[in-house]
Amino acid sequence: MAQPQADAAEADKPALGVGMVGYAFMGAAHSQGWRTVGRVFDLPRRPVLAAICGRDPGAVRAAADRHGWAAAETDWRALLERDDVDLVDICTPGDSHAEIALAALAAGKHVLCEKPLANTVEEAEAMTAAAEEAARRGQLAMVGFNYRRLPATALARSMVAEGRLGTLRHVRVTYLQDWLVDPEFPLTWRLRKEAAGSGALGDLGAHIVDLAQYLAGEPLAGVSALTETFVRERPLPGGPTSGLTATATAGAGQVTVDDAAVFTGRFTSGALASFEATRYATGRKNALRIELNGERGSLAFDLERLNELAYHDGTEPGTHAGFRRILVTEPDHPYLDAWWPPGHGLGYEHSFVHQARDLVLAIAQGSRPRPSFADGLQVQRVLAAVEESAEKNSAYTPIAVSSISV
Ligand SMILES: NC(=O)c1ccc[n+]([C@@H]2O[C@H](COP(=O)([O-])OP(=O)(O)OC[C@H]3O[C@@H](n4cnc5c(N)ncnc54)[C@H](O)[C@@H]3O)[C@@H](O)[C@H]2O)c1
Repeated sequence: MAQPQADAAEADKPALGVGMVGYAFMGAAHSQGWRTVGRVFDLPRRPVLAAICGRDPGAVRAAADRHGWAAAETDWRALLERDDVDLVDICTPGDSHAEIALAALAAGKHVLCEKPLANTVEEAEAMTAAAEEAARRGQLAMVGFNYRRLPATALARSMVAEGRLGTLRHVRVTYLQDWLVDPEFPLTWRLRKEAAGSGALGDLGAHIVDLAQYLAGEPLAGVSALTETFVRERPLPGGPTSGLTATATAGAGQVTVDDAAVFTGRFTSGALASFEATRYATGRKNALRIELNGERGSLAFDLERLNELAYHDGTEPGTHAGFRRILVTEPDHPYLDAWWPPGHGLGYEHSFVHQARDLVLAIAQGSRPRPSFADGLQVQRVLAAVEESAEKNSAYTPIAVSSISV
């Protein structure tokens, strides 16, 4: 009999109406987050899946039914006019992030925007300025760098902040996928600069730049880079496509983004970093790995073993020191007091539940959510510096350093 009372208590909470644009890969993942968050975490506000938006009336209605949204719209401008939408969640390709986010902030909504924040530094600057102004009116904006929201990465951040690594020397990150190995994979939006901004760099590189800066607790000051487009022409897509799936037609078109980006970087403290982002690592599906080495210890995380964090305490006697596995499933670990008993691990999708939780809490408390649009702009500056360096034969390219929030 406890459940009806719990439901009644939930219903008494003030609603936070969510309107989401885009309903394919990220749309499904964010829907999962919004649907689940209020049933797992005890939040001061009750997220309501008010309306979802896509351009095809039949498909968006079907997506609304499948993912649990009350209403469907076919123009995102109509979403912004709805009184039952307090927060706009942008899950579209990068070419529409700036336009939708600026309009949503102007319409008085809170905004969650998928990464990368924008396709250019200029767009990201305009979005950051608008978010700053909106924050003064009590509207909040956040970027969807969801890998910050895994218990193991959040734990890693707190261990770095506690000083367990001491002075940081190295950050080593790779993000490897292989879905472009087949040269017949069609030319979807992710392979067109005007839609995606850049290729593996903006897609995978944005994630690892954010994660590296977040875990290090400091921004990158400069980079030296190489980028490459291995397959320069691909079949045009036919029928329905998403960024990752499509069927080919007879025609062909030019790939206008990078297929892979490899770069080194220097943090403001002088610590060194290396990054590799590729869609051509045959056999690697979603292999994000990061290791941090400091003078007192090291931490390592592998997305394919996301409930674990490897830790070496360099202050222990050498006779029995070594990397040990922390199973990050204890109730004292980040986010885990609301989930399952120890040892019953979480998965990829839970990062989106945690993302929704953190944003709802920030809105209810009136505090600035992280990563902010300013953090998204910092990442965008790093991506631009990587492209500039690659064009100049890997010349070291400084980044206009701004602070980051962690
Ligand atoms: N956080 C992550 O781990 C992660 C993973 C994948 C993608 N992303 C990001 O999420 C965003 C979307 O990527 P995706 O993989 O979901 O792409 P997708 O191709 O699977 O879906 C894009 C959706 O946007 C819709 N859309 C495009 N333009 C629109 C418009 N003008 N109005 C309404 N709907 C529109 C499409 O119809 C589709 O539903 C990108 O910015 C991408 O970089 C983030």
